[in-house]
Amino acid sequence: MNDALESLLEGRLFSGELAGLGLALALVVVLAASLPSKNRGLLRQPLGMLALYGIARALMLTTKQLGGLLEPIALLLLLAAVGRAGVLLALDVVLGRRLARPLPRIIRDIVQGLVYVAVGIASLRAAGVEPGSLLTTSALLTAVVGLSLQETLGNMFAGLAIQMQRPFELGDWIQFDADAKNIGKVTEINWRATKVVTLDHVEVTVPNAALSKAPIRNYTKPTAESRRSVYVSVPYAMPPTRVHELILRALAETPGICETPPPTVVTNAFLDSGVEYWVRFFLTDFDRRDRIDSAARDRIYFALGRSGVSMPYPNRTLWLHQVSDESRATARADAVRAQEQALACVDLFDVLSPEDHRALAEMTEKRRYMKGEMIVRQGDDDGELFIIERGEVSVILDRPGTDRDVEIARLGPGKFFGEMALMTGDLRSATVKALTDCELIAVGRDAFQRILTRSPGVAERISEVLATRRAEFDRIAGETEQAPSSKEERTQRFLGRIKKLFSLG
Ligand code: CMP
Repeated sequence: MNDALESLLEGRLFSGELAGLGLALALVVVLAASLPSKNRGLLRQPLGMLALYGIARALMLTTKQLGGLLEPIALLLLLAAVGRAGVLLALDVVLGRRLARPLPRIIRDIVQGLVYVAVGIASLRAAGVEPGSLLTTSALLTAVVGLSLQETLGNMFAGLAIQMQRPFELGDWIQFDADAKNIGKVTEINWRATKVVTLDHVEVTVPNAALSKAPIRNYTKPTAESRRSVYVSVPYAMPPTRVHELILRALAETPGICETPPPTVVTNAFLDSGVEYWVRFFLTDFDRRDRIDSAARDRIYFALGRSGVSMPYPNRTLWLHQVSDESRATARADAVRAQEQALACVDLFDVLSPEDHRALAEMTEKRRYMKGEMIVRQGDDDGELFIIERGEVSVILDRPGTDRDVEIARLGPGKFFGEMALMTGDLRSATVKALTDCELIAVGRDAFQRILTRSPGVAERISEVLATRRAEFDRIAGETEQAPSSKEERTQRFLGRIKKLFSLG
């Protein structure tokens, strides 16, 4: 050590050092001229090291006693300044101009780290200390260095793995641990950790090793669209199909919600306070997700409100409902009156007196079917006639031996179906499916028996309809009568069958 100091003071080492100083200054000048102006701040580091080197040198000349200590420090500072400036020139100026994307931060950190290690080793050697022998001769030092490097190296290799596998990139939105609330936008991936900024504008630094073990959810990959879920409760009174329709229409106009993939609604649960709907839609603006969710809820709220629905939460409407015999009778009377009015609009029952309408209404039942439901199935052995109060149905014939069903007719309010099986005792001739949500009045055999006994005119009306429909049905089904007959004859034949089946005189 003393030899080194003496030789330095004698100026023997000085020429090499002078070359180093010249190189450092030259690099700084080149960098100052070529670094992009936004990166000029980086020059502060090599300049600072050079300034410290100057101070160390000045101290050595004034206080010769400290020369032994300051010599390796000055050399270390000079080499570090050269190393830092060299790395900046290589990565930021030379490579930076050639690469399309900025070099990942982790690569710069590792290159810079290796250069500093080399500078440290060279400085130790110049001071007469062999770094290899330090580690091999001192088991304690080796253990300390090994243990302290363990975590750092783990983070570094995890960081490199992240760079290679690219489970996420700068700018991606990720959930960075098992807690679903921990979601942030990646702003930096360095040799030790990854930085993410959450929606609360909080920067979270997650060690790379922890990230490599966590299940990462990337909301920006594989596509920028990510699905959101919003839950809405609606009172039981509103049919689910209507709610689906209203919600989808409301979402179609909500800014920020993707058209494709389209939003969907699922009837999710039957809760105390109403039916819960699970509303799903996609968005690309993940950082505006809370506001888009909120806008979707607002739109749904107003759309349902316009349709007379009050949201059952956060307040719950409590119905105190005492059912006495009297109130039950009143409710039934109301229902019968509504059915009576509906039956009065059906031309089939024109011939009935108001008393007969009332008697029929008392024996009938109101049924609600959802869009797409089968109301009667071809080939079934049941006998009820249905009058359509609201909605539309399709009469479909399944022709054996062919793979396509044929729609025979569409029927709407005031029309009826199911008369063929009821009036003739045959199996259902076709399938009838609800095209929209439907409200129907079901009339059973007993009710008809009573009506036909009191008003035989109904049997004649039905026979006419039966004759017309059957002819149309046979034409579509490709069935031909053995002896072709007129409509009159067919009507009479049906009337005969009805009279026989219902034992009418
Ligand atoms: P049913 O056979 O009991 O069940 C299927 C129903 O489809 C049938 O009664 C009729 O009400 C109806 N249907 C059959 N053919 C026709 C048609 N041509 N026009 C209208 N409705 C029909």
